[in-house]
Amino acid sequence: MIVYKSMKEIEIMRQSSQIVARILSGLKEMIVPGVETRELDLFAESEARKLGAVPAFKGYRGYPASLCVSVNEEIVHGIPSSRQLKEGDIVSLDFGVVYEGFYGDAAITVPAGVVTEEARRLIDAAERGFFRGWQEFREDNRLSDISAAIQAEVEQAGFSVIRSFVGHGIGRNLHEEPQVPNFGHPGHGPKIRNGLALAIEPMIAAGNWEVEILDDGWTAVTKDRSLAAHYEHTVALTDSGAEILSLDPKDAEKLSAWRTVDA
Ligand code: MF3
Ligand code: CO
Repeated sequence: MIVYKSMKEIEIMRQSSQIVARILSGLKEMIVPGVETRELDLFAESEARKLGAVPAFKGYRGYPASLCVSVNEEIVHGIPSSRQLKEGDIVSLDFGVVYEGFYGDAAITVPAGVVTEEARRLIDAAERGFFRGWQEFREDNRLSDISAAIQAEVEQAGFSVIRSFVGHGIGRNLHEEPQVPNFGHPGHGPKIRNGLALAIEPMIAAGNWEVEILDDGWTAVTKDRSLAAHYEHTVALTDSGAEILSLDPKDAEKLSAWRTVDA
């Protein structure tokens, strides 16, 4: 069952999502060679608590940290540790909080220092996949229109979309119905309507889409060990149209660029 949100509830989700945006923006500045991934986790958790929010992932199905930090061939759910980032790494940061009963969830992929051309293109393709999918997030479209648009955009760039992890509904729970795959044929699934809140999150690989889970039970890596990238936002359809609730105000121009492109 899909739980549609009232405008009041979306207002709270906007606040939780903006807490996430603000913390991701701070984390982005910390992505330099030499930083330990656990320092990022400590920052995320303490900033969230300062802002009156509770980290969403810690303890979720036994996940041991507040932040997911996935480096290079790691796709999602990388566990923060004493690992130091190196020049040339690409680093996915996935963070969520619960604030006044509602969740916000977002992810970005950030280069550490100078990275290869392929790595830059991959990061860009994950973002483009998100924005292309988001263009389809409008009244009376169907859910799989988002999925198909993401897949087309990513594959056009020469990359593949991960199959075994998907986006999701979000609200009073971190994961709600419906699932939002990053692949599929258009025209299927529920109609998009007012009050729908989703986490849309392309996870993509430079090589094949097959996944392996490391012995820690969490870290998902590409089977071929090719680079992976992740980009995620919490979005909602409100009385005033489609909104990216977790958009960093600094990224507003990205949004306007995609608004003017015809779908
Ligand atoms: N953004 C991820 C998701 O939507 C984060 C979940 S990590 C977990 O699934 F540790 F909480 F599982
Ligand atoms: Co998510």
